[in-house]
Amino acid sequence: MKIGLYADPHYANREKSGERRFNKASLQKIKDAYAAFTAAGCELAVCLGDLADSDRPHEQELENLTLLSQTIHSFHIPTFCIMGNHDSFSYGAEEFYRVLGGCEPHDIHTPECDLIFLDACYFSNGARYARGDTDWRDTFLPDAAALGQRLAACGNKVYIFMHQNLDPEIPEVLRLSNAAEVIDIIEKSGKVRTVFQGHHHPGHRTVRNGIEYVSLPAMCEYDGAYEIIEL
Ligand SMILES: [Fe+2]
Ligand SMILES: [Fe+2]
Repeated sequence: MKIGLYADPHYANREKSGERRFNKASLQKIKDAYAAFTAAGCELAVCLGDLADSDRPHEQELENLTLLSQTIHSFHIPTFCIMGNHDSFSYGAEEFYRVLGGCEPHDIHTPECDLIFLDACYFSNGARYARGDTDWRDTFLPDAAALGQRLAACGNKVYIFMHQNLDPEIPEVLRLSNAAEVIDIIEKSGKVRTVFQGHHHPGHRTVRNGIEYVSLPAMCEYDGAYEIIEL
């Protein structure tokens, strides 16, 4: 199964935010990525979060998301968009996926491998991020035990996709507050090959205890920041 991956486009209707988030340029970069996904015959594309950045007023944010939706759907590759903290700051989950016209991730099980999609846009107290109420320093996977049950139902080759980080080498502030518990669950399953993440804009790769952690470089900061994987 060939999958096109990208992370952190942070698209908004302005040239730049912060030092090096080139928000507007990400739209063309998304088009370039999907052209490469199409040429490679990808069956699925996955945005690993922070598809959009905040804008003002909210009508502009909705316009931005509509443009992203039109762009993504014009390529006719089924796409899953995992919500990132920036998406959650601008849109509630219902609004995000309604305006995107789908793209809500769900686990995929095939005879060869299983794909699990995690949403860690939660505070450590278990409350979900809400529009205008998020904290990039506080990210959490609620009901981690349920992940153990999902893994138990999978074969021996599992790939996990998420926005925030589990990678033990990435700065702690970017990692789930219950990362140690989640890592323990996935290590004990003995099934997880790779965890694909976004959020850490420089990107990073770590292998620990037989599990590969891949954080993609942020599309808004780098050129050619997408990856085609074959599982
Ligand atoms: Fe980001
Ligand atoms: Fe993020």
